[in-house]
Order: sequence, then C-alpha cells, then structure tokens
Amino acid sequence: MRDDIEEIMFTPEQIQSKVAELGMQISDDYRDKNPLVVCVLKGASLFMADLVRNISIPIEMDFMAISSYGASTQSSGVVRIMKDLETGLENRHVIIVEDIVDTGLTLSYLRDSLLRRNASSVRIVTLFDKPSGRKIEIIPDYSGFQVPNAFIVGYGLDYSEKYRNLPFVGILKPEIYS
Ligand code: PRP
Ligand code: MN
Ligand code: MG
Repeated sequence: MRDDIEEIMFTPEQIQSKVAELGMQISDDYRDKNPLVVCVLKGASLFMADLVRNISIPIEMDFMAISSYGASTQSSGVVRIMKDLETGLENRHVIIVEDIVDTGLTLSYLRDSLLRRNASSVRIVTLFDKPSGRKIEIIPDYSGFQVPNAFIVGYGLDYSEKYRNLPFVGILKPEIYS
C-alpha cells in the first residue's frame, strides 16, 4: 500500500493535533446544545471516531451513508442515500462530519436534505477542503486543512475502496488510477 503513495501530505501527528483543535472549537460553540454529530460514511468514519473523542460536551452520534463517486476518481454529481439517519432532526442542532469537500455536490445535497427535516441548525465540519474542485458554492463551517488539486488517500479517504486504513494522508501515484 505504501508503495502506491507518491508523497505524504499529513502525518498522523499533524492530523491528530488538527482534530483536537476542531474538537475544542465545537465544544465551545455547542455547550448545552446536545448536538447530533452525523458521520458521512464511509470516508468520514476515522475522522468521526477521533473528533468525538476531542469533544468534551454531551453529544449524540448518528451515521449516514451517501455515495457519489463510486469507483471513479471523479464525482458523478449523482448522490445516493445508502443508509439514512435513525434520529429525528426536529429541533436538533446537527453537525455534519465529512472527510473532504471537493465539488461540494455531496454536502450541498446533504445539507439541504437535513434542513428540510426541520433541523434547528446544520453546520459542516470537514477535515480537508479542496476549494479548487468546487462545482457548487459551499463553505464548510469548520475546516481542518486546505488541500491542492491532487488525488489524496488515507485516513478514511479511498480510491476504489482501498487505502482508507492508512494512518496518514498522501498523494496517490497517478499510475495507480490512470
Ligand atoms: C467522497 C468524500 C466526500 C465526497 C466529497 O465520498 O468522502 O463524502 O466524496 O466529494 P464532493 O464534494 O465532490 O461531493 P464518496 O462518495 O467517495 O464515498 P465514501 O465516503 O464512501 O468514499
Ligand atoms: Mn464520503
Ligand atoms: Mg470515496
């Protein structure tokens, strides 16, 4: 697996210290709000697990699976709900946890769909933001790192379902996907 990586972009230590920062900010902003923290499977699963351990206030967790990429490296723009939330959103403050915002299509669809369920508020926390990839304007409320327009994998991010379990984030060698 390591041989398929051209360059390491973020080490486990850099990721952990950023996740701790984000957890602290969220803890400050959501005191007494009992937010519902929603993990967007599968990419955000590792970030979610680390983030909630850095949130020091009461929260609830739920999970949603949506998919837009499939086995391609390009977003298709077609968002499918593979697994829905179990929690009702009426009067809830929702925090959507994402690993990366690229075109923004996934999140813009998701945010609108959760707001339609009458959530009191919906904010987005993403570990990585790739502003150059945007096809629709969306600005994450909390963002860890801005990343350039390279195909990155690891720490939840996959290429064709592979590399999610790498503890770091790195640039995939182009020969792997071309
Ligand atoms: C990836 C990533 C984000 C989304 C971002 O998920 O985890 O959820 O794409 O891309 P966008 O901003 O262009 O919509 P993917 O659909 O690959 O599913 P996965 O999380 O299961 O890998
Ligand atoms: Mn995803
Ligand atoms: Mg994916």
